[in-house]
Amino acid sequence: MLVILLKFCSILIKLMSNITNMKLSYKKKLIYCPILHQKQDFIVKLFILFLIIILCHFKLYSQGLIDYEGSIKPILDKHCVSCHQKGSIAPFALDNWEDVNSRAIMIGAVTTSKYMPPWRADTSFQHYKNENYLDQAEINLIKKWIEGGKEKGKAPRKKSGLAKAQKNLAPIAKTISIGFNQPFVVEGDNREEFRFFHLPSKVSTDQYIQSIEFIPGNKGLVHHSRIMIDTTNEISGIDGLSEEDTAILKFQTKPLADPFLFGWVPGNNKIQFPKGIGKRFYANSDFIVNVHYAPSPIKMKDSSSIKIEFSNDSIEREAQTLTLTENNIANQPFVLPPNKKSTFFMRSPVLRDSISLISIMPHMHLLGQSFKAYAITPNGEIINLVNVPQWDFNWQTTYTFKQLTPLPKGSVIYAQGVYDNTIDNPLNPHHPPKVIQYGWGSKDEMMNLVIYYVSYKNGDEKVLL
Ligand code: HEC
Repeated sequence: MLVILLKFCSILIKLMSNITNMKLSYKKKLIYCPILHQKQDFIVKLFILFLIIILCHFKLYSQGLIDYEGSIKPILDKHCVSCHQKGSIAPFALDNWEDVNSRAIMIGAVTTSKYMPPWRADTSFQHYKNENYLDQAEINLIKKWIEGGKEKGKAPRKKSGLAKAQKNLAPIAKTISIGFNQPFVVEGDNREEFRFFHLPSKVSTDQYIQSIEFIPGNKGLVHHSRIMIDTTNEISGIDGLSEEDTAILKFQTKPLADPFLFGWVPGNNKIQFPKGIGKRFYANSDFIVNVHYAPSPIKMKDSSSIKIEFSNDSIEREAQTLTLTENNIANQPFVLPPNKKSTFFMRSPVLRDSISLISIMPHMHLLGQSFKAYAITPNGEIINLVNVPQWDFNWQTTYTFKQLTPLPKGSVIYAQGVYDNTIDNPLNPHHPPKVIQYGWGSKDEMMNLVIYYVSYKNGDEKVLL
């Protein structure tokens, strides 16, 4: 910036001296007066010097003046406030001066360490529509603002981008909200719980889902959830049933129409399909929800709900789900010996048709360390899908590609998951470590890759999501 300023000044000097030269040469023709010439030149040079000093000083001064209203608020509005506002998932708001001011040191620490915003995928590997991270300049700005004494500054007149974005939201299509039949009570015995719930949709015609949202009732209790769809209407009377209950085995034998419609974790609140693309929903289908409750020392209640938006527009393309599971692991068996790090490799069947990917979500539990997935086309081209170099059990995101990502017929998807079942892993739930195998409980392990896609159409590579 300073360099640009100095350049600008030097151009200015040249320009000014050219002008004075021009004036003088014009005057020269009339009368030639050397004293006047020298004096004028001197005054102009003095004036320019004065201008440079003022400009440089102003620049340095303004560098020291990073204030909340002018520099910090826009960063927080863009990257933090979606979660850090009243009624959202984060424990406190960051949309006002008082809260930001009182938590400034913590904000500095979590942004420097890149703990917040919670974004775990490597964007040098692949870019996503929903990527949210601070660049180094923004991190430095926050740091300097704190070091400089947390100036508040004056609010600029124009409205923030956030308010504008909210105004521009499209009109909402037909939306249904379905809650638990009755609140579920967690006894407060410090056990983590995996419970099932049956939520009948009561939607009497076939529809296309435009978006799916899960709204946790008790944010301190609900750890994550998974929404499934059953079209048989035979899975009922399961509300609050534990995953360990043998009665649940009966229904687990029934093939679900969609075993993984949506996996919710804090921050992964909603799946929104692009315009013209929807997920098929058959009339009178039921939602089956599996909720993971965190251990609680006190008795608490939860009444969560789901919100489904059906499309108003005509749907041209149907979103499908491709799930790679432990069955796709090439180096079986999926067993994690104690005191060891293990790596597993998954391989999809060869794609029989060309498809275009919308989003991708890797899934592992507490022993997970890293996850990487890519596809190899029949020509040997590698298409990067997702790389999470430091797996974070608490922030499992559905990564939506920036544009439809075609995989030609004959491609194969590969994934690699690294697990740490040693005492060096602070999240290892077993001390000493035990043999760990597949299971839904977070103390067991999983390796999944859930992909939403549509059949390929010419020009898909240019379709922005
Ligand atoms: C996707 C949602 C989300 C976004 C975006 C987000 N946060 Fe958070 N943040 C949370 C949640 C949930 C918690 C509480 C759980 C935790 O600490 O992980 C949290 C915790 C925090 C904490 C407390 C950490 C601690 O150790 O107690 C700070 C400070 C914070 N966030 C700052 C920020 C800032 C600054 C940004 C933006 C640069 C941001 N967050 C963006 C969801 C979010």
